[in-house]
Amino acid sequence: MCGIVGYVGDGQATPFLLEGLTKLEYRGYDSAGIAVYDGKSIRVEKSVGRLVSLKEKIAGNEPSGMVGIGHTRWATHGRPSDLNAHPHTDCTGDFVVVHNGIIENYMALKEDLIKKGHVFKSETDTEVIAHMMEELYNGDFEATVRDVLNRIDGSYSLVFMSRRDPDRLICTKQDNPLVIGLGEGENFIASDIPAIISRTRRTYILNDGEIAVIRKDSVWVTNREGEPITKKVFEVNWNAEAAEKGGYEHFMLKEIHEQPKAVRDTMSARLAKDDSAVVLDELKWNEDFLNSFHKIFIVACGTAYHAGLVGKYYIERLARIPVECDIASEFRYRSPIIDDCTLTIVISQSGETIDTLAALKEAKRLGSKTLAVTNVVGSSIAREADQVIYTWAGPEIAVASTKAYTTQLIVMFMLALYMAGIRRTLPAARIHELIGKLRQIPAQISETLEDVEPIKTFAKVYGFNEDVFFIGRSLDYDVALEGSLKLKEISYIHAEAYAAGELKHGTLALIVEGIPVIALATQKSVYEKTLSNIKEVKARDAVVIGIAAANDTELEKYVDHVIKVPETDELLIPLLTVVPLQLLAYYAAITRGSDVDKPRNLAKSVTVE
Ligand code: G6P
Repeated sequence: MCGIVGYVGDGQATPFLLEGLTKLEYRGYDSAGIAVYDGKSIRVEKSVGRLVSLKEKIAGNEPSGMVGIGHTRWATHGRPSDLNAHPHTDCTGDFVVVHNGIIENYMALKEDLIKKGHVFKSETDTEVIAHMMEELYNGDFEATVRDVLNRIDGSYSLVFMSRRDPDRLICTKQDNPLVIGLGEGENFIASDIPAIISRTRRTYILNDGEIAVIRKDSVWVTNREGEPITKKVFEVNWNAEAAEKGGYEHFMLKEIHEQPKAVRDTMSARLAKDDSAVVLDELKWNEDFLNSFHKIFIVACGTAYHAGLVGKYYIERLARIPVECDIASEFRYRSPIIDDCTLTIVISQSGETIDTLAALKEAKRLGSKTLAVTNVVGSSIAREADQVIYTWAGPEIAVASTKAYTTQLIVMFMLALYMAGIRRTLPAARIHELIGKLRQIPAQISETLEDVEPIKTFAKVYGFNEDVFFIGRSLDYDVALEGSLKLKEISYIHAEAYAAGELKHGTLALIVEGIPVIALATQKSVYEKTLSNIKEVKARDAVVIGIAAANDTELEKYVDHVIKVPETDELLIPLLTVVPLQLLAYYAAITRGSDVDKPRNLAKSVTVE
């Protein structure tokens, strides 16, 4: 999510820090900061806004010194501001830290540190780490870092700097990337290769749990237990542009592959350790509050609307509250019946879509309580809503939304389970079972991503068809809508998603020999009926690609090809079935040579009505 850089060497740190952060700005750009040791103390400069604001702030008075760290932020805990920008310091200013990721147990740590007299300046989870360094420092910088790491839970890449040991930086990582660039008389740290590629192509790629102590002429790597590790030098042979995409050809493909991590980040801090409940500290709802609603509206645009449809299903099925899901640009012009007994949930990756923002304002004006589900901290929608749940997908650059969708599904599922827990509409054992299944989803998405070769083949064979149909029932229909939108957006193939049972009421007239139909069949209660609908299109000589769960042995008898996804609860299977559809859209676009990340006529964030 955020960008991190570090420098120790014979040269000036600041030019490298700013140059490196410029290359990483695509990862996050709501604030930036640097810290440089000037021979006496560590000077910290930070600024809200793009990197250019920081550059302007320090122009003519750049921090001077040969050791430094820097950060460009993509907010998770605490809105974008000067104070919440990294680097963060302890009370004395002796310990400085930059962090990418989430410290899950920061609240408890913070309370403890406050009791011990530490004064916090920011709302971030990261600041606890700087204060822990101060609290635990025993004269040994590296030992103190280890002590801190043993007390924090979460995902992170971290770089530590100390005024008391100013000749070195210490860095480590867990579930977030970190690389060390090896120079002559200087060494570099970065969360991503683009930041260092202009200085060196010789790198160490740090693995989870490894701790590196970096001086200008040495890099010493150990494991958590302190045992030395011999690292192999990885020579980067990508060009700068490819490096920004982490070696992927397009941001969309990179973001598709980031889904296991995005989904894990979005859920992990919100599930009770014993799987007994979803913990949404940001809401603190109770039974009276939930019972005050006679209806919930979910309002969104595009892919977020498709996530809303799945959300409607989850809330009605698990929490038993009636839900209407609507397209934002329709919602406010249809005079919806809204009062203070309604809850309006808006979903928006960017938090800036004007139709969604306007719908939110209208719902509020009519007295509805409001909740935003968004990916961008401090966005207009986040500010306007009464309450917010953030998806922690990290920046999404490609116009076609992928990891935002899956994280939105995760949030809607957790929200429905949270409501079900409060309203006692589900037995505790079922909640426990569903949370257990939810935890398996990141690994199952990874597994699904590995099975890409058949999808590439389908994209080559069918990528030049001008029409494609997607069919499914229930949750499969909701996923069909998203799969069809993906294909339209980036390959420009005319794609229609139909509720499988509705085909015969008109659309069947369009099914002719050789037309590809992608049929999702994962929902038990409508499985047989879906099979009948598949037979209807097969009888018209369509080519059917079925999408099924791994344990399905029936579907392959009725279709031309089958793509299987790992077995999970049928409520959670949309998180897996959407993945081959994203890949199919991607490879169809490649087959047709379209501009995947910037499809014609579309924009990532639509701020006009
Ligand atoms: C645009 C994008 C879509 C996105 C929609 C809603 O049309 O191209 O990918 O789904 O806006 O965006 P939001 O940021 O509100 O989720």
